[in-house]
Amino acid sequence: MNDQIEKIIFTKEDIKKRVKELAAEISAEYKSDDLIVITVLKGGAMLSADLVRELDFPVTLDFISVSSYYSGTTSTGSVQIKKDTDINVKGRKVLIVEDIVDSGNTLAHLIKLFALRGATDVRICTLLNKPSRRVTPVDVNYIGFEIPDEFVVGYGLDYDQKYRNLPYIGVLKPEVYAEK
Ligand code: IMP
Ligand code: MG
Repeated sequence: MNDQIEKIIFTKEDIKKRVKELAAEISAEYKSDDLIVITVLKGGAMLSADLVRELDFPVTLDFISVSSYYSGTTSTGSVQIKKDTDINVKGRKVLIVEDIVDSGNTLAHLIKLFALRGATDVRICTLLNKPSRRVTPVDVNYIGFEIPDEFVVGYGLDYDQKYRNLPYIGVLKPEVYAEK
């Protein structure tokens, strides 16, 4: 798998260190609030698993899956829920955990959804942020790393459903995309 990667952007150690910092920030801000951490599957799974184990207060976990939204490396524009959460967010605080904020469409949609369902506070934690790609403005509260407009894989992020299990974030060799 490593021979398909052109360059590594964030190593396993970089990510580990940054996730700890994010968890400290989140723990300090929420203190012991009644928080539901909602992970956006599948990409947010790695960050969520590592992040929640570093939080120093008890949280409730839930999961949501939205339409893959990408065909190849370009956005198709629509957001569809494939698997919904099962815990009622009414009157509770929500922290959405996502792999990357790109166009912002997915998160803008989810923020609106949980607010409509009565969550009192909805915030976002993302491993990566690509601000130059934003189409729909969205407030991102906790950001691991900002990256330029480059398609990346690893630590949850996929290309064609693969490479999510890389322990680092990297860029694929151009020939890997060309094969599709
Ligand atoms: P949005 O465009 O902000 O709605 O992002 C939607 C989804 O696009 C993210 O959750 C990722 O699954 C995917 N995505 C965006 N940029 C990348 C990338 O560089 N690599 C892999 N997936 C990406
Ligand atoms: Mg995703």
